[in-house]
Amino acid sequence: MSAPQPIHLHDYQLPAYRVTHTELKFDLSPSATRVVARLHLERHSERQEDNLPLVLNGEHLKLLRVAIDGQELGAGEYSVDAETLTIFEVPQRFLLDTEVEIAPESNTALEGLYLSNGMFCTQCEAEGFRRITYYPDRPDVMATFSTTVIGDAASLPVLLSNGNPVERGELPNGRHFVTWEDPFPKPCYLFALVAGDLEKVEDRFTTMSGRDVTLQIWVEKENLDKTDHAMASLKRAMKWDEDTYGREYDLDLFMIVAVNDFNMGAMENKGLNIFNSAAVLTHPLTATDAAFQRVEGIVAHEYFHNWSGNRVTCRDWFQLSLKEGFTVFRDQSFSADTNSAPVKRIEDVSFFRTAQFAEDAGPTAHPVRPDHYIEISNFYTLTIYEKGAEVVRMLRNLLGWEAFRKGTDLYFSRFDGQAVTIEDFVGCMHEVSGQDLSQFMSWYSQAGTPEIDANGHYDYAKSEYHLTLRQRTPATPDQHEKLPLHIPIRLGLVGTKSGDDLEMTLDGETLGKDAVIHLREEEQNFVFTGIAEAPVPSLLRGFSAPVKLRFPYGREDLAFLLQHDSDGFNRWDAGQRLAMLALDDLIAAHRNGVEKVMDVRVVDAFRTLLTAKVDDKAVLAEMLTLPSEAYIAEQQPVVDVDAIHAARTFVKQSLAVALRDEFMAVYGDHQSDVSYAPEPGQIADRALKNVALSYLMSIEDEEAVALTQQQFEADHNMTDVRAALTLLTHSSRSDLADPALKAFGEKWAHDSLVMDQWFSIQVTRPQPDVLERLKFLMQHPAFSLKNPNKVRALIGTFASQNRVNFHRIDGEGYQLLADVVIELNKLNPEIAARIITPLTRWQRFDETRQALMKAELERIRAEELSPNVYEVVEKALAA
Ligand code: TRP
Ligand code: ZN
Repeated sequence: MSAPQPIHLHDYQLPAYRVTHTELKFDLSPSATRVVARLHLERHSERQEDNLPLVLNGEHLKLLRVAIDGQELGAGEYSVDAETLTIFEVPQRFLLDTEVEIAPESNTALEGLYLSNGMFCTQCEAEGFRRITYYPDRPDVMATFSTTVIGDAASLPVLLSNGNPVERGELPNGRHFVTWEDPFPKPCYLFALVAGDLEKVEDRFTTMSGRDVTLQIWVEKENLDKTDHAMASLKRAMKWDEDTYGREYDLDLFMIVAVNDFNMGAMENKGLNIFNSAAVLTHPLTATDAAFQRVEGIVAHEYFHNWSGNRVTCRDWFQLSLKEGFTVFRDQSFSADTNSAPVKRIEDVSFFRTAQFAEDAGPTAHPVRPDHYIEISNFYTLTIYEKGAEVVRMLRNLLGWEAFRKGTDLYFSRFDGQAVTIEDFVGCMHEVSGQDLSQFMSWYSQAGTPEIDANGHYDYAKSEYHLTLRQRTPATPDQHEKLPLHIPIRLGLVGTKSGDDLEMTLDGETLGKDAVIHLREEEQNFVFTGIAEAPVPSLLRGFSAPVKLRFPYGREDLAFLLQHDSDGFNRWDAGQRLAMLALDDLIAAHRNGVEKVMDVRVVDAFRTLLTAKVDDKAVLAEMLTLPSEAYIAEQQPVVDVDAIHAARTFVKQSLAVALRDEFMAVYGDHQSDVSYAPEPGQIADRALKNVALSYLMSIEDEEAVALTQQQFEADHNMTDVRAALTLLTHSSRSDLADPALKAFGEKWAHDSLVMDQWFSIQVTRPQPDVLERLKFLMQHPAFSLKNPNKVRALIGTFASQNRVNFHRIDGEGYQLLADVVIELNKLNPEIAARIITPLTRWQRFDETRQALMKAELERIRAEELSPNVYEVVEKALAA
């Protein structure tokens, strides 16, 4: 087999043929589904060169018939290979009829048409439609669709597709059919079909122009009591998009379907969103606050795609962030408006700085708009999604909300029904604002995380504050030379006497107390005049750009900002920086075998936090949370997982010993038995209470142990139960862990999503026997390598979150992951290529671990690989 070849952005060509209308007929059967397609095709007006054959994509299809304008084609008129159907001569405008057979039951890749728990469903993004029928499977071919679904009436009572149902009826042999029509032209990646024994909950929404929309959530019968939150979230999202972006829903029906086997979170198919059941189902007794918030965010995300993605779509897959970055920005804003804005920002940024920074620093680093790929499904990444969202956020901040909104209005109206590029989007922003965004475009083309070194000093004599900023973006695998970026830096100068933000004047211009300065050069000096007292600078407020910013803060400075910064985000960040300084010392002490000593300034800062009356409890809970081991690792030149774990545990235990009574008081003050609601006040109280309990349990305080057991047994809501079960399971005492795990596992054996949590909690235990437990759990009846949620819960969680044990020095953690990748490579290449990520980060570790990790990557490379795994492994080993 020859090595898969990359596709390049600069090779883009307009499609030779357009499809104006697509008619599909599915005759469903698990082993032999028949797909009859009639495509209304015409030559593209700008592709008029001679002798252009019609080349259609198609994989894993058995071709039964092909005809043009009703005339069946003979052997010499077309050719078929593993990836294409080519018809040598076609008219300017014609009808193409094909019939193929496919086997949903043997589709374990979960791309195209497959079976999940007896239910037929589809996943077509990015290139799954070519596993359904022969088609120009590219997003710039947009057609209206008419789809007839035929199935067994008894086992498949519900037959769904995009758009509106226009006809239904009985057929011989106990079969029935429904015909659906989608009047909005769409690329085939937005096609969807669902058939199964499903039940629905229904609601209504009246749009801003008074149109009545039916909302349906389709689930397996036993999950009917888990849809309330998704439905409420959907209605909030619909209203928010009208109020915020002026975007109204366009069909009479909007459906969500929950499926158990799904590669990602959810999919925005037109009028028929398909969701991983984990991303839609909630119940107070089965889902945590975090899960409720995740569901709200994903429901909104997929709904928002109806405009940012569906009505206006991507010209090609290099533009993926055009829809994903923008839509993530939209869902983040929605969640911020619906819940606590500062906490949402803290959560998003702390995730971003851990996971996206790591991606940017690793062998698979790529720009927000990549310029080549082998397998597009490897590019549904943190860079495309989250960094893409940060870039849109910077645009919003550069233009201000009003101009940005004018820009989105222009974008949606000008490009409605079209497949466009990132230039088209940024072009609208330029047009409405007149701002020069040419330097800004490098954010889309340049990979890697910019690093800013900041320095400042206060000139008493002149009452001036001098700030120097120097930027540098480190080389990434495909890009050695980097250009300086246009980086907006929001800042304030906090007076050390007053504790207030000082009025800032720059080059004679009054900026106010909180302002944005623009770094465009490699190095720039900023002189703020009229600064009456020595300030501590509060830089990059709200994380105004996706960069690493260093400033030589002393610990007193950070303790000061932690108390006085007017920006909630930077107050939190000051605490994180302060903790990091202490952690750095302790990591060094651990490595040098020196006795660890706790920094009293951190203890004092925490005491102040715990005892002062902080009104935003959700932010307080975040402030009391130490940087994760993964985040700490990101800050180290060579990652020492054991030293990081030891240092972080030491800080946690020291704080618990020193502030035992304060933590106990916080726990007591926030314990409550009001009935569960996923609302911000309650969520904050639970977060705060459970963070306090986790400190107390780190020293296995007897009273805390009793409280944790009580909280577990009270079984009030999953947030509290899961927090308690995690603390009991992660304690050193098997007399606490074992009975609780057993009770929980038996109680929830019937609930797959709860069992996922049960798996995750066990494989994040710090105890050294966890790898053996993981192997044992892989034999558990509830586990299956074919179900992506199970693979993520057990293996993904272990490899990414149990750092000390995954990186065991005997290499057994690596070996286990490689074994799983080799199996999954055959079953589900998309998941295989994702789950491998921790192994690709070998460069960050010591030589012994590097060698062990590389040996496993080599072992994987020796297999016959899917393009997905091939691309990732090649990059990882080339680094
Ligand atoms: N467009 C989906 C989203 O972000 C992503 C998605 C869902 C996806 N399923 C997929 C991407 C399968 C690739 C493969 O909302
Ligand atoms: Zn999306």
